[in-house]
Amino acid sequence: MGTVKCIGILTSGGDAPGMNAAIRAVTRAAICNGLKVKAIYRGYKGLITKEIEEFKSQNVSNIIQQGGTILKTSRCEEFMTPEGRKIAYDNMMEEQIDALIIIGGDGSLTGARLFAQEYDVSCIGLPGTIDNDLFGTDFTIGYDTALNTIIEAVDKIRDTATSHERLFFIEVMGRDSGFLALNGAIASGAEAAIIPEFETKFDQLEEFIKNGFRKSKNSSIVLVAESPSLGGAMHYAERVKKEYPQYDVRVTILGYLQRGGSPTARDRILASRLGAAAIDAIMEGQRNVMIGIEDDQIVNVPFSKAIKNDKPIEQDLVNLLKELSI
Ligand code: F6P
Repeated sequence: MGTVKCIGILTSGGDAPGMNAAIRAVTRAAICNGLKVKAIYRGYKGLITKEIEEFKSQNVSNIIQQGGTILKTSRCEEFMTPEGRKIAYDNMMEEQIDALIIIGGDGSLTGARLFAQEYDVSCIGLPGTIDNDLFGTDFTIGYDTALNTIIEAVDKIRDTATSHERLFFIEVMGRDSGFLALNGAIASGAEAAIIPEFETKFDQLEEFIKNGFRKSKNSSIVLVAESPSLGGAMHYAERVKKEYPQYDVRVTILGYLQRGGSPTARDRILASRLGAAAIDAIMEGQRNVMIGIEDDQIVNVPFSKAIKNDKPIEQDLVNLLKELSI
């Protein structure tokens, strides 16, 4: 592969607040470095259907504050097939795109890794997901905004929970990881979090109810990660209702509102730093890495590391929640 003259940029998978800030940073940093920028719409799908447009600096004006993604997004099954990737590659060559910048989560970076293994193209990933579940980066773009959305919602539920003296199970997103649930619980003063990384057997729940609920407090809030392996908030609520009919139990599923909204300052700055660093990586000849942040320093993480490893949740945070919810 020769020198990169033109980059393609796309957003893929679940949208996350701050993706637009990343698109802006990539576009402007690329232009500053003399590169041409081609925007690809609807994720990998747009690479297959050739929904591609050249971007100038003004195409990314006034978007840093917007949630969602101006490039649209999709989860593209066709790109997961060798035939789909062949069409995508041919289109990339026709458009004279030398390198791809992919903003997305685990599934999107898995697609990028496959593509880079099969074809001589440089793919640079930016971690864009509210789930914060990518290994090799302390934070993903969108996570901080989603966390703030969660605590705002939980604060409101707390008002009604306290007034009615109820036990609330609140389900939050995160797919198979509990970052949103655990840190959301710490930040909102919830009594417990049920997350897939740490098994919560029913007897543990029982212990919590006996020790915590109605002992020193007149209401309780438990955040539950949506993970299918846990069964969701509804599952726990049903079990408690059955075992403890005296408790007034309610469920709220926060759902897709967690993915929307204007990004926080933290997410805007993170997205701007990672976006510019993606162009630095291309200029340095780096290939097939995810740009992450560790201890406030930019790091380049090989796709194999970012995707294959489960990002651990610190036991200290679990202990902290327990200690502070007495
Ligand atoms: O990965 C982000 C996320 O919002 C997860 O938390 C959630 O499980 C999933 O996407 C929902 O995906 P979809 O938008 O396809 O329903």
